[in-house]
Amino acid sequence: MRLTKLTALLATVAMPAMATELEVTHWWTSGGEAAAVAELAKAFDASGDKWVDGAIAGGGGTARPIMISRITGGDPMGATQFNHGQQALELVEAGLMLDLTDVAEANNWKEVIFPSTLLDACTVDGRIYCAPVNIHSPEWLWLSNKVYEDIGIPVPTNWNEFVETAPQVEAAGKTPLALGNQPWQSNLAFGAITVAVAGLDVWKAVNVEKNMDVAAGPEMAAVFEAAANVRKLAANSNVQDWNQATNLVITDQAAGQIMGDWAQGEFQVAGEVAGQDYTCLPGLGLNAYLSTGGDAFYFPKLNDPEKEEAQKRLAALLVSPEVQVAFNLKKGSLPIRGDVDLAAANDCMKKGLEILASGNLVPSGDMAWNPDVQKQNEDLLVEFFKSDMAADRAHAQWVSNLKTGL
Ligand code: GAL
Repeated sequence: MRLTKLTALLATVAMPAMATELEVTHWWTSGGEAAAVAELAKAFDASGDKWVDGAIAGGGGTARPIMISRITGGDPMGATQFNHGQQALELVEAGLMLDLTDVAEANNWKEVIFPSTLLDACTVDGRIYCAPVNIHSPEWLWLSNKVYEDIGIPVPTNWNEFVETAPQVEAAGKTPLALGNQPWQSNLAFGAITVAVAGLDVWKAVNVEKNMDVAAGPEMAAVFEAAANVRKLAANSNVQDWNQATNLVITDQAAGQIMGDWAQGEFQVAGEVAGQDYTCLPGLGLNAYLSTGGDAFYFPKLNDPEKEEAQKRLAALLVSPEVQVAFNLKKGSLPIRGDVDLAAANDCMKKGLEILASGNLVPSGDMAWNPDVQKQNEDLLVEFFKSDMAADRAHAQWVSNLKTGL
């Protein structure tokens, strides 16, 4: 039997005497996501333990309340996904989550995890409570090349060209912008449009420096006006889930979608080739930056020493170089460590890796704001994008939502 890199690595890790089952909850149910999470399950099973898959359909907005109520209600799972940021902070503060500091020290997480903000997001009072698994940046524009080829115009190279050519796309009977109804999708699109229209400095002033004068000022008023025009481009986009919206682009019914780089997993599963069938524009083609969102696994306390050992084995495995490569190539995300070989990365991932190396990084919305603010703005922005709510009214409400998080 050929010894793969993974089995070679696992041979050097102490194998458990008996397989321990861990239920792992997550919201990775699209085609690309399922293919990626299968890599994690495969590696855990190959290491001698047993991954019991606890996928929850409906996206993070549906899954997180279920995960949290199971943990607080005395029915904890072995491990669970959350986004980088503050989603699990209250659970950690309540003493419900396993301290992984010994795993982090034994595996040099402080030295290998890049950017260090990912580990900072796992750290509460100097102790480490999560294992980051990827970097996902939400601000990408994904375009169907065929839609533009059929019209006979060049594929846009940035957001402004996308908006300028939208009437031609509409005249050809296609939907310019695919946008699903899950509230977080509208919040994500709004963040990306903010940077495209007002620039990165304005985004940072509002979200990092928390400058509420800038939030209430003319630059953001202009962003809301621009977003009010953009929502017309998505008027015919009647789908719920983000991957259904991606599918409109894959099947050339819609010209584009603003979505995180997890969309890449869907293009990949559909057999589409980056650069040939579709185009990806990080920072909407106007600003070469990434925000360092993504996913981490947390391990609720189970009060079971055998399970605890298995939880720690899984935490170490998720960060290991081999798992990082196998998982992230399928997920469309970037690895959380720089010392891995990503020669197999496609064009879009390569663009992401270049920006990561350039260091032009900002925190994700989930890092910048607490979950309550995020939820309030998701609800506001989905209403704004899916109705004719006045731009100034939405703007005022948005500023007051932000102020609740100061
Ligand atoms: C995000 C998550 C990604 C992706 C996306 C859509 O919250 O970080 O991994 O799966 O949701 O489900």
